[in-house]
Amino acid sequence: MTPPANGPVLGIETSCDETAVAAVQAGRVLASRIASQVPIHARFGGVVPEVAARNHLLSILPTLEGVMAEAHLTPADVRGLAVTNRPGLVGALLVGVQTAKTLALAWRLPVVGIDHIEAHVWASMLCPPAAPTDRDWPRPRLPFLALAVSGGHTSLYQVEAPGRMTLLGRTLDDAAGEAFDKVARHVGLPYPGGPHLDACAQLGDATRFRLPRGLAGRDDLAFSFSGLKTAARLLVDGLGGADALDVQTRADVCAAFQAAAVEQLVRVTLRAARRHGLGDVVVAGGVAANAGLRAGLAQGCADAGFRFWPVPPAWCTDNAAMVAGLGEALLDAGLHDDPHDLDATPTGRQRRAVPGGAGSPAGASA
Ligand code: KG4
Ligand code: ZN
Repeated sequence: MTPPANGPVLGIETSCDETAVAAVQAGRVLASRIASQVPIHARFGGVVPEVAARNHLLSILPTLEGVMAEAHLTPADVRGLAVTNRPGLVGALLVGVQTAKTLALAWRLPVVGIDHIEAHVWASMLCPPAAPTDRDWPRPRLPFLALAVSGGHTSLYQVEAPGRMTLLGRTLDDAAGEAFDKVARHVGLPYPGGPHLDACAQLGDATRFRLPRGLAGRDDLAFSFSGLKTAARLLVDGLGGADALDVQTRADVCAAFQAAAVEQLVRVTLRAARRHGLGDVVVAGGVAANAGLRAGLAQGCADAGFRFWPVPPAWCTDNAAMVAGLGEALLDAGLHDDPHDLDATPTGRQRRAVPGGAGSPAGASA
């Protein structure tokens, strides 16, 4: 039986601590479910890889069944599978990859391995949740500039096509999300810190304390957050530590940290757009959910005459709609993998097979 040419693509994401499955058809998300492990890892203050892998195993099939039921799909309706196979925690990635390979062989479907960061960026092409269903929706024009900003990455890319993006610049040390999480922890906010720090900063006065703007003297496309993180830590220690902070002071520290981080992200992103002549600017990844960053980039892009495309908040943090969406675009381009060869590559890039034999480099050039 041949899979339906325009049927939905199923996406699977298990690279870190979210077990996620989604169905996407023609860029529209039919169903998207996430079994979050946040409460499980919260007591450790971070993701424990072995615990994550075990919980993916418990959640993956019920999550898949939930998506199939919600989108009213049987295996015969599905056009293909997309699975995050790089980068990520190896044990966690393996659960998704093995599930996708098994389904591909059992249901006789094409499968495509997906780069997690490329998927974050491609979420900007999905039909937004509130868009009317009867017509096309506006989306960024290729090539576009993408700021991918998450717990493990802070990078700028020129995006040319699905699965083809060129690295323009990246952080020299910490990822922005890592800095948000560590500073949040230092001021006494719960895990995962980023969203809590964001909420706390909204109640704060960003002018009461001034923290250093990273790499202010440089003119390239690099980021740095480790100096800012240390300065925030020293500020908190100087105030007597997390337990000594009153509610307003804690909010003011959060606002000062967020203002400094956002200033740097906006400054370098706009420089990249100008330097590479890219008029469409996307922000993607977990930290793209940050209200201050979205507002800062919206203002900066408006002032510079760039079109700004923030990924809808629901698809900024890890999800499988972004995986299915990129998978659909790759399948449309005739790209897929041999299910026997597809493997989890925790740090790497992988060559993707093209029907007819010629290999095609795939993956971000990070
Ligand atoms: O993309 P993501 O879900 O996972 C990775 O690929 O890393 O990003 C997670 C990161 C975490 O560091 C989390 O604290 C941060 O994104 N994050 C935020 C916000 N929401 C998530 N950081 C700042 N403000 C937010 N609203
Ligand atoms: Zn992510």
